[in-house]
Amino acid sequence: MGIKMETKNLSIYYKNYKALNSVSLPIKENAVTALIGPSGCGKTTFLRSLNRMIEVIEGARIEGNVLLDGKNIYDPEVDPVELRKKVGMVFQKPNPFPMSIFDNVAYGPRIHGVKKKPLLEEIVEKSLKAAALWDEVKDRLYESALGLSGGQQQRLVIARVLAVEPQVILMDEPASALDPISTAKLEDLIEQLKEKYTIVIVTHNMQQAARISDYTAFFLNGELVEYDETRIIFTTPKEKRTEDYITGRFG
Ligand SMILES: Nc1ncnc2c1ncn2[C@@H]1O[C@H](COP(=O)(O)OP(=O)(O)OP(=O)(O)O)[C@@H](O)[C@H]1O
Ligand SMILES: [Mg+2]
Repeated sequence: MGIKMETKNLSIYYKNYKALNSVSLPIKENAVTALIGPSGCGKTTFLRSLNRMIEVIEGARIEGNVLLDGKNIYDPEVDPVELRKKVGMVFQKPNPFPMSIFDNVAYGPRIHGVKKKPLLEEIVEKSLKAAALWDEVKDRLYESALGLSGGQQQRLVIARVLAVEPQVILMDEPASALDPISTAKLEDLIEQLKEKYTIVIVTHNMQQAARISDYTAFFLNGELVEYDETRIIFTTPKEKRTEDYITGRFG
C-alpha cells in the first residue's frame, strides 16, 4: 500500500512546551490509521499538524516536515485553505453549522465557487449517501441541522467534509459523544470510506482501534513509541510500554 502522508522528525511546541518530539510516521493510503495513547500524549496535536490547523494556535511552533504525496505541506507556496480541502477534519463534538442540513453540506462547495443549484443538489445527495445519512434526512433537507441527533450530526459533519472531495480525513475521537448504535454506524461508515479515502482516527477505545484500523500508532508523552499493523500492535507489540497500555496495565 502506498504512503499518502508522512511526518519526518516532527516536533511541535506550544510556547516553550514541547508537545511532540521528533515523530516520524507514515500514513498509508486507503487505510485507517489509529492514533492511541493516554490523555495529553499529543494525539490531537499530531492530527492538527496534518492539515495545518496547528498554526492557527497562537504560540504554536513546528519543526520537521509533513508530506502529502511527497510534498511538504508547510512550504510557503502551499495555500492552507486548499490543503484543508484535501485533508478534511472531523472533531470530537459534532459541530454542524446553525443552518439547514442542505446548507451545511453545500457550504464547502459554495465557498469553492459552486453556485448552480442542480450541481449543489447533486453534491449534497452524493455526500449524504456516502455518509450513510441520506435515507434519514432526504425528506427534511431544508430543516435545521441542529434538530438532528448526535449520531446524525456526526455523519452530517462527515458529509460536509466529503462534499469538498478530500483525499484524507482526520477524525479526533469522532464517536466519543455517540451511543453504541450510532458508534456502530460510524464504524461501518469508516470501513466503507477507506476504499476511497485515507483515514486517520484518534480513539481512546482500544476495541474500536482494533476493530476499524489497519495500522496503529501508540503515543506516550509526545513520543511515538510504536507503529505497526494493528493486529501486531494488539497481539505482539514489541515495546513493553505498548503492551501495558493496550492491556490496561498503564499508569
Ligand atoms: N493550545 C495549547 N496551548 C498549550 N498547550 C497545549 C495546547 N494544546 C495542547 N497543549 C498541550 O500539549 C499536550 C498534548 O495535547 P493534545 O491535545 O495533543 O493531547 P491528546 O493526546 O489529544 O489528549 P486527549 O486524549 O486528552 O485529547 C498536552 O500537555 C496539552 O496540555
Ligand atoms: Mg485530544
